[in-house]
Amino acid sequence: MHKHDQENEQKLVAITGANRGLGLAMSVRCAALGWSVIAGCRRPSEATDLQRLAQKHIASVDIVECDVLSEASIVQFAAKVAVARPHLDLLVNNAGYLDRSDPRLDDAKSVSVTTAFQVNALAPLLLTRELLPQLRAAPMSRIANISSAMGCLGLEQRPDSYGYRMSKAALNMFTVNLASELASTNIVVLALHPGWVKTDMGGTVAPVHVEDAVAGLLEQMMTADKGRSGRIVRYDGMLLPY
Ligand SMILES: NC(=O)c1ccc[n+]([C@@H]2O[C@H](COP(=O)([O-])OP(=O)(O)OC[C@H]3O[C@@H](n4cnc5c(N)ncnc54)[C@H](OP(=O)(O)O)[C@@H]3O)[C@@H](O)[C@H]2O)c1
Repeated sequence: MHKHDQENEQKLVAITGANRGLGLAMSVRCAALGWSVIAGCRRPSEATDLQRLAQKHIASVDIVECDVLSEASIVQFAAKVAVARPHLDLLVNNAGYLDRSDPRLDDAKSVSVTTAFQVNALAPLLLTRELLPQLRAAPMSRIANISSAMGCLGLEQRPDSYGYRMSKAALNMFTVNLASELASTNIVVLALHPGWVKTDMGGTVAPVHVEDAVAGLLEQMMTADKGRSGRIVRYDGMLLPY
C-alpha cells in the first residue's frame, strides 16, 4: 500500500496539551491504534517524550506548537491541522490548568482564575470554532472536552479551587451549548471526566492509573453516538449529572 493510500484510510485526531499526562498517554495510545495524531504542545523542542513517539511513528505523529493561552497560536495550530488533512475525526481539548496555590477564596488571585478560564473554557471554544469545517467534513466526528467532576454543579463539591471548578463548569456549558447547535450534524460533542488520575495534576495519591483512564476515555470518545452528544461521561462510561 502506498503511504498516501494508507494516510487516506487513517483516522486523524488532534490533541492539545499532548506533551505530558493524559494528553501524552492519549497520543501514545492513538498512535498504537493506527490513528494519525497531531499532538499540540506549548514547546515542541522540549517535548522529549512526544519527540520519541514521533520518531517511532514517523509517518503518523506530528508535533505542532499550540499555546492555548494565545488565540494566534490556536489559529495557527488549527491551520496546520487543516493543511494535514481535510477531515478531522476527533478533536481532544485536553490542555488544562489548575493552580494549587489558591484553594480558598482568601487565596484566590485574579490572574490564576483568569488563566483557568482561558485554558479550560475559552481555548476549547476557540479551537473548536477554528476546526469546525474539518470536523464537518468527516463522515462522523467527535469533539471531546476533557472536563472534570469538579465542575459539575449536580455533584457534591468541596469548597476549593474556585478558578478550576468555575472554568470546568463553563466548559461543561460549552459542551451542552455546542451539542445543541450541532444536533443535526455528523458531530458528537462530549465532556469527559478522566477520574482522579496519577498525573502531575492529579498527584501520586490519585487512585486511577493513566493507562486505565486513557483506555476508557478513548473508548468513550471513539464509540459515542449522537445519543450521548452533550453529556458528561466518566472514563468508565458512566454518565454524570452536570
Ligand atoms: N489528573 C486528574 O486527576 C484529572 C481529573 C479531572 C480532569 N483532569 C483534566 O485532564 C486534562 C489533562 O490533565 P492531566 O492530569 O494530564 O494534567 P497535567 O499532567 O498537569 O498536564 C496538563 C497539560 O496541559 C498543558 N497545558 C497547560 N497550559 C497550557 C497552555 N497554555 N497551552 C498548552 N498546553 C497547556 C500542559 O502543558 P505544559 O507541560 O506546557 O504545562 C500539559 O500538557 C486537564 O484538562 C485536566 O483538567 C485531570
